[in-house]
Amino acid sequence: MPGIVIVGAQWGDEGKGKITDLLAEHGDAVVRFQGGNNAGHTIVREGVEWKLHLIPSGILYPGKRCVIGNGVVIDPRVLIEELDALRARRVDVSGLRISSNAHLIMPYHLLLDSAGEAKLGSLQIGTTRRGIGPCYADKAARLGIRVQDLLDEKILKKKIMAAMEPKRLSLRPFEKDPKLDLHTMTEEYLTYGHRLEQHIADTSRLMWELLDRGEKVIFEGAQGAMLDIDHGTYPFVTSSNPLAGAACVGAGVGPKNIDEIWGISKAYTTRVGAGPFPSELHEEMGEAIRQRGGEFGTTTGRPRRTGWLDLVALRYAARLNTMTALVVTKLDVLSGFDRIQVCTSYRGAEGAQFDDFPYHQTVLHHTTPELTELRGWKEDLGECRTLSDLPEAAREYLLFISEQVGAPVTLIGVGPGREQVIWTDAGRETLIGRNGSAPA
Ligand code: IMP
Repeated sequence: MPGIVIVGAQWGDEGKGKITDLLAEHGDAVVRFQGGNNAGHTIVREGVEWKLHLIPSGILYPGKRCVIGNGVVIDPRVLIEELDALRARRVDVSGLRISSNAHLIMPYHLLLDSAGEAKLGSLQIGTTRRGIGPCYADKAARLGIRVQDLLDEKILKKKIMAAMEPKRLSLRPFEKDPKLDLHTMTEEYLTYGHRLEQHIADTSRLMWELLDRGEKVIFEGAQGAMLDIDHGTYPFVTSSNPLAGAACVGAGVGPKNIDEIWGISKAYTTRVGAGPFPSELHEEMGEAIRQRGGEFGTTTGRPRRTGWLDLVALRYAARLNTMTALVVTKLDVLSGFDRIQVCTSYRGAEGAQFDDFPYHQTVLHHTTPELTELRGWKEDLGECRTLSDLPEAAREYLLFISEQVGAPVTLIGVGPGREQVIWTDAGRETLIGRNGSAPA
């Protein structure tokens, strides 16, 4: 700390929410920097479940600054629903700040996301259909509507008209949809503006002030490295950069404000949506991991594809992020297997061995995983709180991963509960606060 980035090191769903929540306790602010409500996490606190899609989980701590940065795309209807749900459960949401430069997901983005997928038929990406891709496309095309536009009726109307004009053809099937009526849409979004106004701010300046005062800021990534639009398995990716580098741009700070980069990986691999997944498991073993790990999407409820830990992809993610530490979540899910396998390289269709992630998508599509077998363990890990509580085979597994990735393991997840984690010495050292207190 003071600037610590949390990023997904796989295809998303690594359990970043819980890790951010744990770190938020020791931090002063949490900022989201990319993605939108395609993300989602469930936090279990004292037996109570919280589901969040847009608002950083730090909101559950009174007085903590929570920021939705300029790099996020916001569906204001979803954001307001989330705010209302928190207020209804007596959570103080006054610390939330929303970047005036963040782009808004509009009703036509939702329709175009679904229509685009339908058109692709069997080639579809499997998006979350939350309008993420079309919104980022409008941002790049300079046709986006931003949070600040909600505060000016004339500008809002003009910008909506300009944004819809080039989409006339693709929106024709929805021409009678009342949600797309210009007047209705403007009124609806102005209402959102009134509701959100108290939270809108120059969040880049706010971040600078916090960091300048030496406060601890957690940059909360969504999705994961392999879904990155530049470096992931394009086109089966999301439309933003879920990498540490994007934390700066998406929050409006400079690279020197980042001190630590923690990559989060499950002890195995999952992916939702289509696209290559070299270490994917089918049949019983894949199903066993899905059931034991409860691998069904928080946002869409879709069953996740499952596989052994892919160290080729994880090393790639470590490099892309300059990961300073690795967090391994859901280690408990692997209890009970006699042998555990990990993918250490890929074998190409023509026999070549790939230790690094192949740069050509066609090669990737035809690779098979080269697996290394490690000892399994039978013990339940739910009560383990120190490394020495873990069975020897589980420690060997962690050491193997850490050596392969070239980053120390700071934190290990051994169950869904907040307290079901193991802090290693490396993790504690990062967090020792101004008052010298480290996590218990
Ligand atoms: P989009 O982000 O909705 O456009 O979806 C693009 C791809 O990213 C699809 O394969 C989604 O399943 C995947 N994706 C988006 N958000 C998440 C996430 O939070 N976890 C896992 N996969 C995601």
